[in-house]
Amino acid sequence: MNIDLSHRLKGVVEFLIESSSRINEAKPQKYWYPLSMASYGVEEILQALDSMCSFRTTMWEKTREFERQFAEYQGCREAVMVNSGSSADLLLSFLLTSPPENMLSPGDEILVPVVTWPTQVWSPLMAGLKVRFVDVDPATLNLSIEDLERKITPKSKAIFLVHVMGNPCDMDRVLAVAKKHGLLVIEDCCESLGSEWAGRKVGNFGVGSAYSFFFSHHMTTMEGGMVVTDDPEVADRLRVLRAHGWLRNIEASHVHLEGRAGIDPRYAFVNWGFNVRPTDLQAGFGLEQLKRLPMFTERRLAQAGRFFGFIDGVSCLSRPQVADKASPIWMSLPVMVEDSAPFTRDEITAWLEERGVETRPIIAGNLQRQPVAKLFDCFTDEPFPGADRVHDRGFYVGLSPMTEDETTERLIGCFEEFLRLKGC
Ligand SMILES: Cc1ncc(COP(=O)(O)O)c(C=O)c1O
Repeated sequence: MNIDLSHRLKGVVEFLIESSSRINEAKPQKYWYPLSMASYGVEEILQALDSMCSFRTTMWEKTREFERQFAEYQGCREAVMVNSGSSADLLLSFLLTSPPENMLSPGDEILVPVVTWPTQVWSPLMAGLKVRFVDVDPATLNLSIEDLERKITPKSKAIFLVHVMGNPCDMDRVLAVAKKHGLLVIEDCCESLGSEWAGRKVGNFGVGSAYSFFFSHHMTTMEGGMVVTDDPEVADRLRVLRAHGWLRNIEASHVHLEGRAGIDPRYAFVNWGFNVRPTDLQAGFGLEQLKRLPMFTERRLAQAGRFFGFIDGVSCLSRPQVADKASPIWMSLPVMVEDSAPFTRDEITAWLEERGVETRPIIAGNLQRQPVAKLFDCFTDEPFPGADRVHDRGFYVGLSPMTEDETTERLIGCFEEFLRLKGC
């Protein structure tokens, strides 16, 4: 966009944002502490307008640039942008079972924690794998290594990890188990952008990993996601799966075309695939959000430090334990109601909701207890005591980098008032 137009548009966008904020402020708001707040502003909107005004709305140069910068941020070689975190999970799963490499075969088992976002489970199921659920450790919310070892059978071929709410799994132990049993590792990092294990970013420990840029996550592209990998060949296979199974945007495209006279390289199909491409509007958002990410991280760390510091001084409530080697960048603020508490999880969340604090269960709780469980035979009636505890006693409140310190203090005050009433 030319500089003059961009300057004039900036004024218009600022005016529109201000007017819409005034209109929204005048409306009665249910929550003064919502789960999430808009973390984008004029620059992201200008990027989107620029894509529309230059008629480059579909995946184009901004996507490639965002992928390059994201890979640099992540400290890996390749990043492939998609339209959501769920699509990132889907591509990772199909990467494992798709020809011609067929890293895994239909019916092979993949171990997945039973407390997670459901699309992490649907993806391997759709890709033809057999999902074997692993219980979680309610102290960390992450998969239980003891149960992981118990669930391994000769058919187990992979582990699909998730670092819940930003808390890194114990990667030393996970990798030791994976090595011992020859299991592939893939990571769902949709809740853990920037979190580290032993100074290394999560998402860099396996074949590849998935990220979400949904509105409430560490950074947003409205909807959006990313798959990262250190292997350029894997990245090319992901690009094929991302768009129709065709050869476009593939580094080694000439290799696939050898001996295929008469095939137009623009319409050359080398595999099956989806269409889960992002738009350049989303990538433009991503480029601006990456600039803000250091500030977002600082704010997340400061607020989580203050809130968890308060929870640590309360005996009826607890927050996830963090291993010595883990450096979480929290996505939200998860809390567990302890056995000693003279109140239930539902009582405290109802009290908070009535006073304008939005709450949620810890992801889907024990997935085995969801209505969908009756549809698929990976769900059985086997017990998951850790997941049940998270299901019955866990909840979370939001964590937005846009929240002011005073609002975090007000949130803590709200918890304090409830605990005083209950005599804790
Ligand atoms: C762990 C996890 N995986 C996957 C997803 C899916 O991401 P998206 O909403 O971008 O599809 C989410 C979304 O919240 C998530 O928390």
